[in-house]
Amino acid sequence: MPYETPSWTQVVAHRGNSGPFPENTLVAVESAISLGVDMVEVDIRLTKDGVPILMHHDRIDGTTSGAGLVTDITWDELRTLDAGSWRGAQFANEPVRALDEILEVTRGRVALNLDLKAPEATEPTVIAATRAGVSANVVISGCTAKCVQTVGDMTGDIATLFNLDELLLGINPADARKVTRDGVDIAAELGAVAINVPHILVDAGLVELARDAGIGVWTFTVDDESQALKLLDMGVASITTNWPARMLPLARSGYSQ
Ligand code: G3P
Ligand code: MG
Repeated sequence: MPYETPSWTQVVAHRGNSGPFPENTLVAVESAISLGVDMVEVDIRLTKDGVPILMHHDRIDGTTSGAGLVTDITWDELRTLDAGSWRGAQFANEPVRALDEILEVTRGRVALNLDLKAPEATEPTVIAATRAGVSANVVISGCTAKCVQTVGDMTGDIATLFNLDELLLGINPADARKVTRDGVDIAAELGAVAINVPHILVDAGLVELARDAGIGVWTFTVDDESQALKLLDMGVASITTNWPARMLPLARSGYSQ
């Protein structure tokens, strides 16, 4: 059985609890779990030797003690780097993490949103989640149409979110809301459980349209409380935030879809 979206608006910790902690590290993931989030989002890329790891950018320069492209560095090299010091000396020696490690440590504790940052990470991510036995507690996001189809062909047990980046790329900003609405039909046809969209493109009409199509609206990245209250009022299925400690009290205070 794939992940079942709850009836309340989920709070998803973006790259872990990345407001106060270094993104995509275990300390950020553990902090998010301790806050009681519904789900933790982490970004997935493949190393030179094909190991799925947690990393947002294609280069490691900004968030580790190393330099270069993830795809040029092996896992054995990457695992020795410091992914915490850039956020403060108290996080020194917090290592880069492999997806397998995060699947293992979070099993049975929290759901995961695995945000694919490279198309070639699709199959290894499905394989890793399946092997870890956590399919029902995982969604795969960052998905193009091809990615949703690939995951669906590999397994019926892992839910996918359709990201609209492909559709929105290069369009006139004035058309963005219409294109987002088109994305609802595409996502529903592909079998994705939701569209995953920037919050500025979400309105009550979109949420209703998606509900009629049988899918959800998941939205990112929401760090402003007044914005969150509006989205909660619209009945979005999910809010992804860098500051889950701010959003949880709002989401848990009676708003529901
Ligand atoms: O959940 C969607 C979000 O992860 C997309 O943004 O931070 O990966 O670029 P980001
Ligand atoms: Mg992400």
